[in-house]
Amino acid sequence: MQPAKSKCPVQFHKVDFCDPKTHDNPYEMYDYFLEHEPLYYDEKNGVWEVFRYDDIVRIERDTEAFISGEGVRPNIPPDPGMIYQDGEQHSKQRALVSSGFTPRQMRKMEDRAREIVVDLVDKMLLKDEVEIVEDLAGALPARLIADMLGIPEKKRPTVLGWINEITQGGCGPDYVTDEVNDAFENFVMHHEEMYQNRIAAGCTGSDLLTIWINAEINGEKLDESQLLFEHVLLNVGGAETTRSAIAGGLQQLSEDPKQYDALYDDPSLIPNAVEEIIRWVCPFVNMYRTAARDVEMYGKVIKEGQQVGLTYPAANRDPRKFKDPHKFNIFRDFSKEARHLSFGLGPHFCLGASLARLEVRLSLEEMTQRVERIRQAPGKELVYVSSSFTRGLKNFPAVLEPR
Ligand code: HEM
Repeated sequence: MQPAKSKCPVQFHKVDFCDPKTHDNPYEMYDYFLEHEPLYYDEKNGVWEVFRYDDIVRIERDTEAFISGEGVRPNIPPDPGMIYQDGEQHSKQRALVSSGFTPRQMRKMEDRAREIVVDLVDKMLLKDEVEIVEDLAGALPARLIADMLGIPEKKRPTVLGWINEITQGGCGPDYVTDEVNDAFENFVMHHEEMYQNRIAAGCTGSDLLTIWINAEINGEKLDESQLLFEHVLLNVGGAETTRSAIAGGLQQLSEDPKQYDALYDDPSLIPNAVEEIIRWVCPFVNMYRTAARDVEMYGKVIKEGQQVGLTYPAANRDPRKFKDPHKFNIFRDFSKEARHLSFGLGPHFCLGASLARLEVRLSLEEMTQRVERIRQAPGKELVYVSSSFTRGLKNFPAVLEPR
């Protein structure tokens, strides 16, 4: 179907989709593209972008025509991690890594995550003013992942700093700065040290890295470079994204006390609220695919070898699927509308989705039960991450009123 012809407003002409600033307050722009140019060629970066829900679903599902093996970030070559694999190789690698994400491990994770949330909320309640990103939203996933991987306590803030830097490099080659390269080199040394320690200890521990070293399916094991890149992926995929979801969700609820109170009055609403938060915040701006052959869409041709960006936050606000898409609504009926696309779809559907949902749910449970009201701290501003890869709040200064 051809979109209605419309003159592109000047401000949305020649958009550089890799520029982090492009995605600061992007919804007016996404709405323009959703309506008028659902397939857009970004000349500066030589990549296509799609926005509509059905187009992203089609591309994620058509793994013959659109592959991950040539890279999922714009103009950045693939690495040996599972997210860059296709077909059988991807299934094998994902199965090996998933051995650290069994239902039994997830149950254990729930107890540990609850303990962490209770501790963090206890500490916040002692303060006159809190910084929700640092004190809860960022701390929970960072501690949980560090626990899963067995990262020594002292080293955790440093590792997190490297990961935040490495993630910025996902915006595109212009953003792979010296700082990003240094952070990556430091992470490689840190990985090597962890790896050697586990080998020296006979791989008897129960941390994720040991589970991955030992994992074997049909005689196949993860090799050393795969281990390194799964280790990076888990940190990049798991830390910033969940932080954004928790912080963004609590910030939205702080602005809407009626919805916040509804969660306290009826905690059975929380799982639906978790989905709405993840739809609304949509922590990843995009993932890319490469056309394995020429593909025609909207009368244009995506040529073999060209990349297409799947703009998840635009699809999550596609009015063809979501009623009143710009409204944050914990009562949204996803069964009548659509499932959000924040976790992607198809074979690469987020491996950590149940862990992320668990962390957001526990944060909502503990906060609504113990905090009467969350208010943005007077005179303090909200600060957002500027990125064309991950998005969300960097700071959320708040005052908590205990129950
Ligand atoms: C709200 C939080 C999160 C969001 C929004 C998110 C989103 C995503 C997205 C969009 C993808 C790519 C899907 C695709 O290409 O179709 C992905 C993949 C992945 N995510 Fe997440 N993620 C989150 C949390 C986590 C956590 C907590 C972990 C692990 C601890 C994790 C680990 C992974 C891994 C390993 C992949 C690669 C899967 C594959 O290639 O098969 N993610 N995630």
